[in-house]
Amino acid sequence: MESKVLVTGGAGFLGSHFVRRALNGGREVVNVDCLTYAGDQRRLADVSAGAGYQFVNLDVADESRVKQLVADERPVAIVHYAAESHVTRSESDPDRFFRTNVEGTRNLLQAAVANGVRRVVHVSTDEVYGSTLSGSFKEPDKLEGTSQAASPYSQSKALADDLARSYADSLDVVVVRPTNAFGPWQYPEKVLPRWITRALRGEPLLVWGDGLYVRQWLYCEDFASAVDLVLESGAPGEVYNVGPTHDPEITNLDLAKWLVQYLGISASQLQMTGYDRPDHDRRYAVDSSKIRALGWSPGDVWSQLRKTVDWYRSAQRWWESLVGEAESIYNDSGSVSKKAEV
Ligand SMILES: NC(=O)c1ccc[n+]([C@@H]2O[C@H](COP(=O)([O-])OP(=O)(O)OC[C@H]3O[C@@H](n4cnc5c(N)ncnc54)[C@H](O)[C@@H]3O)[C@@H](O)[C@H]2O)c1
Repeated sequence: MESKVLVTGGAGFLGSHFVRRALNGGREVVNVDCLTYAGDQRRLADVSAGAGYQFVNLDVADESRVKQLVADERPVAIVHYAAESHVTRSESDPDRFFRTNVEGTRNLLQAAVANGVRRVVHVSTDEVYGSTLSGSFKEPDKLEGTSQAASPYSQSKALADDLARSYADSLDVVVVRPTNAFGPWQYPEKVLPRWITRALRGEPLLVWGDGLYVRQWLYCEDFASAVDLVLESGAPGEVYNVGPTHDPEITNLDLAKWLVQYLGISASQLQMTGYDRPDHDRRYAVDSSKIRALGWSPGDVWSQLRKTVDWYRSAQRWWESLVGEAESIYNDSGSVSKKAEV
């Protein structure tokens, strides 16, 4: 697909990796982001000076400004990443999540229809399926509405996902459902960068519950390549799961133990805390054979994890100003119960 792409949330973690890829691939990018605590233009310092890049500070929940911007810019496609993305924050401020994630999505879809945008890629999440103890979800397994989603974050994303697909009659819309992502530039509120930055500061790595929660860890650049692929070759109205399959599966405790070993820190830094998230989803698993059939494949997770840790080691100046805010949302360190066997 040629020419101008409007990317929302491009100052965030995953959006910035896509913006970089799109610019390097010769696309023109309009990056629309209102720079919440999670938005940071330093993520794009290496590419933002180029002629093909434009930043617009705009709240996607502002209907009239979204409409005006899409009419003014006339992008051929919209790639919609912008969202409130953190489950823990959604427990205390659900309204913000529904406003940005549902109303913001509606505004973009309406503006796309009104202005003849050729394709919209909506970034959803594997959390819309809820948890499963065995097997993996295929794309049709999402039930209508919020029923399988446990947190206000995943509920808002489930509604936005339904909304995006409901526009398929009037718009070429493609939905992607990525699994838990990681990589450079992720805000240190999320579990992996939180553990890495805590470990590098000599703080304990706090593992919630029994640590046996399972996620399919997806590298940020693998996801950017998946979005690029569906933007070009996805079928209109279709949904694509995007996630790697790990054999054996990786539990949170496996990941924390690996980190201790890779960083060469004391095993006593890994601590099981008595805390756990209410309704903590046990296991997420999706079947990504549909996007694999288009030609997508993820890289090796362990080398991607090493690359990520090495990046955080070298990027202390960026994350050290953020960890105070990121840590302030948690209340999980007061009840450390026992050390894990590493
Ligand atoms: N990170 C993950 O593991 C993961 C997994 C599955 C799906 N996703 C989805 O991928 C997308 C990006 O996630 P992320 O981890 O990069 O999030 P992030 O929190 O790092 O970035 C979100 C970006 O959206 C911007 N934003 C928030 N509210 C906005 C608003 N009202 N108007 C304009 N901009 C706004 C923020 O400033 C930020 O730059 C989200 O839709 C998220 O639901 C993320």
